[in-house]
Amino acid sequence: MEKVKELGSDGTRRSDYRNVAWHPLCVPHASRLWMPEWIMRSKRPRQGSAGTLYPMPLSESVVLDALKVVMDPDLHRDIVTLGFVKNVVIEGSKVSFTINLTTPACPVKEELKAQADEAVRGLEGVSDVEIEMTATVRAKPGEAQDLLPEVANVIAIASGKGGVGKSTVTVNLAVALAQKGARVGILDADVYGPSVPLLLGAQNEKPFTEGQKIVPVFRFGVHTMSIGYLLDDDQAVLWRGPMVAGTVRQLLADVNWGTLDYLLVDLPPGTGDAPMSLAQLVPLTGVVIVSTPHNVAANIAGKAVQLFKRLNSPILGVVENMGVLIDPVTGAETRMFSGLSGEDLATQLKVPYLGSVPFDPQVSQAGDQGIPAVVAYPQSAQADALKQIAGRLAQQASIKAMTAETPTP
Ligand SMILES: Nc1ncnc2c1ncn2[C@@H]1O[C@H](COP(=O)(O)OP(=O)(O)O)[C@@H](O)[C@H]1O
Ligand SMILES: [Mg+2]
Repeated sequence: MEKVKELGSDGTRRSDYRNVAWHPLCVPHASRLWMPEWIMRSKRPRQGSAGTLYPMPLSESVVLDALKVVMDPDLHRDIVTLGFVKNVVIEGSKVSFTINLTTPACPVKEELKAQADEAVRGLEGVSDVEIEMTATVRAKPGEAQDLLPEVANVIAIASGKGGVGKSTVTVNLAVALAQKGARVGILDADVYGPSVPLLLGAQNEKPFTEGQKIVPVFRFGVHTMSIGYLLDDDQAVLWRGPMVAGTVRQLLADVNWGTLDYLLVDLPPGTGDAPMSLAQLVPLTGVVIVSTPHNVAANIAGKAVQLFKRLNSPILGVVENMGVLIDPVTGAETRMFSGLSGEDLATQLKVPYLGSVPFDPQVSQAGDQGIPAVVAYPQSAQADALKQIAGRLAQQASIKAMTAETPTP
């Protein structure tokens, strides 16, 4: 017997195999020479779970194995390990399955779908792939949301100072999330200047009660509640700390919010009683900070971030508002203010940057007319920015929920 010195790819001496009548399909790391014709013709030999190249009939586990190449870019794990792949059905050469993401507003939805399609289409014997994209918004686990058990994510929208466009941003993000198919609510907790009813053209609505609970006002696909609905226009209230806390509690507990994926809470500016009460009453998925590129605004925004960090509420990111002015003719962008940009603020605070909403008088007009910009001017740069920010916000909320659910190994 000729002694062959070279080593096989697994480090085994090839000569070890030569004396035995191995069945070609059982040889680990079988060389092409030993493979039957039909394997040679196949598009791609399937990798068995033990790393072998022998073919396996198309099955759910083969499909799942192939899908392990599709990574979620934010969660840094593959979609199979994350439990996103469901309902694998194989009918002849047609494979169908569902990818259940963590939010309908996922910005990488199409990318993941295309990668999954490619991975499964590459398997031999597969001629048709059908993928249904669904989403179940995950809640932060392990925390009893006593007051709002059916709300998956409570997200506070905060700012250091007033007038930065926090309410405008809140309303537009909520509508953008609802347009993507999420169940969304807005709680207007800015008791000093409730503006959500006005921004949604619902200032004349008077909510009714059903059973013991107040029914939210439904506008542009969003369930809303505000102290503004309950007070008369000219009614001035002298707010004291305990009253603010009590009102925030009532707006949470005495309202029939139903099942929601996201409840956005428009907080009063600054670091007063409302953010404190909110963070103590419900576990927040996180906080979004809206700021304009003024140093004063950025400085106070930094203080708001510190407050929420102390309250153990994660910061989901910074939104810059009115950062640039876009020339309607040339499309050229001019920075409106010379202060710290939203992006630099996010870097400084070590939190995600969610994006920038350009200044546009139309946004203001739409708000005054009670129609959010994403509805009134859906093709505008502002609407586009707001929709992208909504996607990134949903992405950050998913990351918070999923990283808490599946701790990094
Ligand atoms: N991107 C924008 N472009 C133009 N005007 C805006 C923009 N964002 C907000 N505004 C306007 O700025 C003013 C303050 O906005 P608002 O949302 O009420 O701020 P806040 O809730 O922070 O006090 C409003 O008149 C609003 O229409
Ligand atoms: Mg406001």
